[in-house]
Amino acid sequence: MPTHSFRRSLEMFSSMILIFQMFAVFYYTIQTETRNLWRKERNGSDSSPRLYDPSCYLELKLEKSSMPIIHSVFADPISHEVVAVGVRFWFENWHEDSFFCEFRGPKGRVLIRVADPILKDYQRFGARAQYVFVLTCPVPEPLYGMQKLTLALRRASNTSLAYENITVCHSQPREGKKRFLSMCTMLKDMDVAVPKWLDYHRYLGVEHVYIYDNSNTSTLHQTVRQYVDSGFLTIIPWAHAYSPGKTYLEVQIAHENDCLWRNRHWADWMIKIDVDEFLQPMDPSVPLITDILRKYNEFMKSIGSLRVQNWFFCRGWNQTRISNQTQHHHESVFERNQFRSRKPTPVNTGRDKAVVRPINVHFFKIHGVKLGGDTITLSPQTEMRMVHYRGDNRLHSGFRCSDKQPTKDSSMCRLWAKMQGFEMTGHQRAMELNCL
Ligand SMILES: *[C@@H]1O[C@H](CO)[C@@H](O)[C@H](O)[C@H]1NC(C)=O
Ligand SMILES: *[C@@H]1O[C@H](CO)[C@@H](O)[C@H](O)[C@H]1NC(C)=O
Ligand SMILES: *[C@@H]1O[C@H](CO)[C@@H](O)[C@H](O)[C@H]1NC(C)=O
Ligand SMILES: *[C@@H]1O[C@H](CO)[C@@H](O)[C@H](O)[C@H]1NC(C)=O
Ligand SMILES: *[C@@H]1O[C@H](CO)[C@@H](O)[C@H](O)[C@H]1NC(C)=O
Ligand SMILES: *[C@@H]1O[C@H](CO)[C@@H](O)[C@H](O)[C@H]1NC(C)=O
Repeated sequence: MPTHSFRRSLEMFSSMILIFQMFAVFYYTIQTETRNLWRKERNGSDSSPRLYDPSCYLELKLEKSSMPIIHSVFADPISHEVVAVGVRFWFENWHEDSFFCEFRGPKGRVLIRVADPILKDYQRFGARAQYVFVLTCPVPEPLYGMQKLTLALRRASNTSLAYENITVCHSQPREGKKRFLSMCTMLKDMDVAVPKWLDYHRYLGVEHVYIYDNSNTSTLHQTVRQYVDSGFLTIIPWAHAYSPGKTYLEVQIAHENDCLWRNRHWADWMIKIDVDEFLQPMDPSVPLITDILRKYNEFMKSIGSLRVQNWFFCRGWNQTRISNQTQHHHESVFERNQFRSRKPTPVNTGRDKAVVRPINVHFFKIHGVKLGGDTITLSPQTEMRMVHYRGDNRLHSGFRCSDKQPTKDSSMCRLWAKMQGFEMTGHQRAMELNCL
């Protein structure tokens, strides 16, 4: 329990930070003009027979004083809506206003729809608020089916406050296939971790993965080319920078909601985890992630997400390699980390992750559904847990399991061995993989 005076100084410190932020943000907004709206188009067909993909992404987010910061705009060809995803600064009040969506139709006609942004987001993360913005605007009927739309988004109370001539593409290829389970994540220059993370989850039932690439000097395309070519992986250019006065969470939140809204009609379930995190089914009679989800799919149509508890894995209590024998060149994350904390991280302490039903979620923020259907917590002992190899993330290389004596747990190593086709009855193969 903090003492009274400690609390007071904490409050003073927070107010100072807030004042500083107000200055920074004010200065920045004065400086900012709408940047150009050039968009990067994705073409599904550089060398392989993949579907032509008409989707496109904002190269630079849209930002302008007294307007929402918009990271993404696209048209959903099933619900016939334009969806805009972004964030708001805490001091702004545009969300109390309505917006005109002006579509340029055939023969230069302008077709107008009115929309209200939905922003019932009172939750802050850390010292800096990141308010989620999701606006959906019905597409006028004469424009149904058009591959590209031109849109102006205007504040109703002052129509000179606007983003003009935004090019809006479809969220997905129209002939795109509906999948039961997909996965999405955002990362920046972490190529090494990606292939095993993809292989592991593909084995457990994931059908497609979307990686939002936050690096502007990325080599990821080369690293994972075979996954892209085979149609398992889509890489989305997402090198958006975060605004002064905000944190990387701005870009993180935007990617989460972009991913969920783009896949609303294309994925029954969406896993939202990072590349140092792995979902592990715990009941041998329900061995695939998809098997677990089917159970909930059937009985609970309106569910928003399943919460999966975090369980830290690490390199043993003295944090050394297990033995010299294991210093194998191709030693994997599963072999390096065969110890775990004795207990999972308690729920609602910022470590849970989720498997989401996009159709039942209006917005999602960091680890959970903030507006949408209910969340059910899976048992980390008997249903599914999230194995978190935090020490393998180069951003947290000093990470240790907090327990003095973590528990030996080689189940992930054995699962990986099985995925690799190693016969665990043949002891030699197990040795080759160095499972304890
Ligand atoms: C993408 O593909 C379309 C249709 O095949 C083609 O018209 C367009 O020029 C391509 N764009 C780029 C940037 O390659
Ligand atoms: C509308 O917005 C413009 C641009 O910010 C501003 O110059 C103008 O004064 C505003 N008009 C009203 C009536 O508030
Ligand atoms: C938007 O496009 C129209 C038609 O091409 C053009 O007349 C108008 O000046 C553009 N507006 C802006 C702000 O670029
Ligand atoms: C890439 O992003 C970094 C950090 O956001 C920035 O400093 C750098 O100028 C960017 N480089 C390019 C080529 O855009
Ligand atoms: C701790 O490290 C030593 C080598 O430095 C090793 O012999 C021992 O087995 C390790 N203990 C555990 C529990 O990993
Ligand atoms: C482990 O390897 C290091 C260097 O490779 C060596 O110095 C050390 O003696 C070895 N330890 C054991 C227990 O084999």
